[in-house]
Amino acid sequence: MYPYLVLLVVTSVANAAGTSLWVPTTPQSPKPYAIKKGLGIAMAGGNTYPVTGNSSGKAFCILNTNAGPTPGASGVFPHVHKKTYENFYSAKGRVQLWGQNLDAYHANTSIQQTRILGPGDIGAIPPNTIHTFTLLEPDTQLTGVLVPGGFEEFFFNMNIPPSGPPDSESPTLPGAGGFDMDGLAKWDVYPQLDFVPRHDVVNGKAGPGNWYDGANSLASGMSEPIWVAKNYGPKFLNSQDNRHHIITPFVTGLQTNNTFSQGTITLSPFSRAETRAPVVKSAVATAFMMEEGQLEVTVEGFEPASLIDGDIVFVPPNTPFSYVATAEFTKFMYVTGGGAGLDAELMAKAKPWDSAFYPPQSSNLVVKRGIRI
Ligand SMILES: *[C@@H]1O[C@H](CO)[C@@H](O)[C@H](O)[C@H]1NC(C)=O
Ligand SMILES: *[C@@H]1O[C@H](CO)[C@@H](O)[C@H](O)[C@H]1NC(C)=O
Ligand SMILES: *[C@@H]1O[C@H](CO)[C@@H](O)[C@H](O)[C@H]1NC(C)=O
Repeated sequence: MYPYLVLLVVTSVANAAGTSLWVPTTPQSPKPYAIKKGLGIAMAGGNTYPVTGNSSGKAFCILNTNAGPTPGASGVFPHVHKKTYENFYSAKGRVQLWGQNLDAYHANTSIQQTRILGPGDIGAIPPNTIHTFTLLEPDTQLTGVLVPGGFEEFFFNMNIPPSGPPDSESPTLPGAGGFDMDGLAKWDVYPQLDFVPRHDVVNGKAGPGNWYDGANSLASGMSEPIWVAKNYGPKFLNSQDNRHHIITPFVTGLQTNNTFSQGTITLSPFSRAETRAPVVKSAVATAFMMEEGQLEVTVEGFEPASLIDGDIVFVPPNTPFSYVATAEFTKFMYVTGGGAGLDAELMAKAKPWDSAFYPPQSSNLVVKRGIRI
């Protein structure tokens, strides 16, 4: 299923005393780094870019939009990217996303879908998919993943935030000359102004497919958007090395033509205190963005870094690193730069799992829905 696995497990990471993994802002060339919540290259409108094409060697861009539903700061005209894959992850608050394959829209062979994304929900928009979105709550964090990295140069060159210009009724920006819709193609942006977003949402969805009302499956290809409500998608349990990983993939190489993967990992501490952290080395770039708990990450050549909510670590290809949960039920979002990353390695040695919780780590513990009783 994952033919290009190149992860190696070696025995230990040499960490260099005095060399900190933490950086004050997004680096301009690929290197291992950790960056605190909220830091990174910033632009107007509450947007920060903790991982860019420059910092990831073009693998991917991670962009956080912290904003609310104020006019001009949310909503964008419907458009398509022909080369760029764009995932919309609600890290907090709520985001509404619409999507439909462009060819199927023109041929009238599919039905437009929309979802209200609450925290932990994702909509994946493959290339050639019409999409538009809006932020719904005052304190929303939309985490965008754009592949390949470098698409974000569009936002900087046009000097517009990712969530503008506003709606399809007035697709022009204020200022001399308005907005050059035709000049957008060189940035891989193709407006689709005849697309009318539907507004008949019931229970967070409109259009075909499950949401919080049933299992969410991952389409095997790039011909339609993918929607995964938190913990309603596929789950896998890997119990190697005296700890549990629950992997919830949003997209794998099968959905991205092996260009990237994204999902979440929920990690237990070691059940045996003496366990040494396994070292992984991946042929593709790896990034984690923390959601809860605490993760100690050691990259070869650097001091260990202890990450909490919102912190991000980036590890370039072929760089040995290890990670340990230092708090119970530690969870992070991952992005890897190909179909054969850390997630694929973990899932290859995992079993399908139907719970959001991992099993109790001692037979003496009685655990009900993750709570010791
Ligand atoms: C990426 O690097 C190029 C070349 O140095 C530079 O022009 C550009 O501004 C950088 N982009 C970002 C988002 O930092
Ligand atoms: C599109 O298809 C639907 C049902 O398949 C049909 O009701 C509708 O009239 C079609 N629209 C156009 C413009 O052909
Ligand atoms: C998938 O990737 C291969 C190899 O990079 C490329 O030749 C092919 O055109 C891609 N397919 C699509 C649908 O993008």
